Amino acid sequence: MINIALPKGRLGNKVYNLFEKIGYESAEMKEDNRKLIFENEEKNIRFLLVKPSDVGVYVEKGSADIGVVGRDILLEENPDVYELMDLGFGKCKFSIAGPVDFKENFDRPLVVATKYLNVAKNYFDSINRDVELIKLNGSIEIAPILGLSDVIMDIVETGTTLKENNLKVLTNIEDISARFVANKSSYRFKNKKIEEIVNKIKEIL
Ligand code: PRP
Repeated sequence: MINIALPKGRLGNKVYNLFEKIGYESAEMKEDNRKLIFENEEKNIRFLLVKPSDVGVYVEKGSADIGVVGRDILLEENPDVYELMDLGFGKCKFSIAGPVDFKENFDRPLVVATKYLNVAKNYFDSINRDVELIKLNGSIEIAPILGLSDVIMDIVETGTTLKENNLKVLTNIEDISARFVANKSSYRFKNKKIEEIVNKIKEIL
């Protein structure tokens, strides 16, 4: 049995469609239900629907043999997994964004709201900028509007959320896309099956 961790939500749907195209489908996935585990007994695979930010943990610990996760999560969580393939979708950027009329005050630490504390710390350390980081779990764009932070560090896909909240990108830091990852020991012991899946996906990408 190969356990596959899929991120719930937009990225997960795209990834599931890929698996469906290579013949690894599960009829139950298409049903309107709240199940989190779906099997295809004939193909000997099982899909696990998990929070996007948890995919790395499931794969690192071996609860899932393989999974798909955004590079943003890999950079933030740094799980001990093999990164086998860039799927080339789920593209976005890590960016610093702030109010359209933002003027930085270099006399004090910059206050940054983000979901990605580690990525933010590494970035601002790399440019030697003192910061106060504020961890939020979503709707980050609200923080500078309310004066909770000066700027945000977040992923930007279409830029619509920024635009509709009167914010703009100040600096682009890094390109992000979906990555196919594998548990290190699964990659060794279930290599044939995992490579078969990787190759089939490569063929249709
Ligand atoms: C992400 C991200 C931005 C938005 C960017 O949030 O944190 O808020 O998408 O997308 P856009 O550039 O296409 O507008 P998500 O939708 O995952 O929700 P969240 O606020 O709960 O993190």
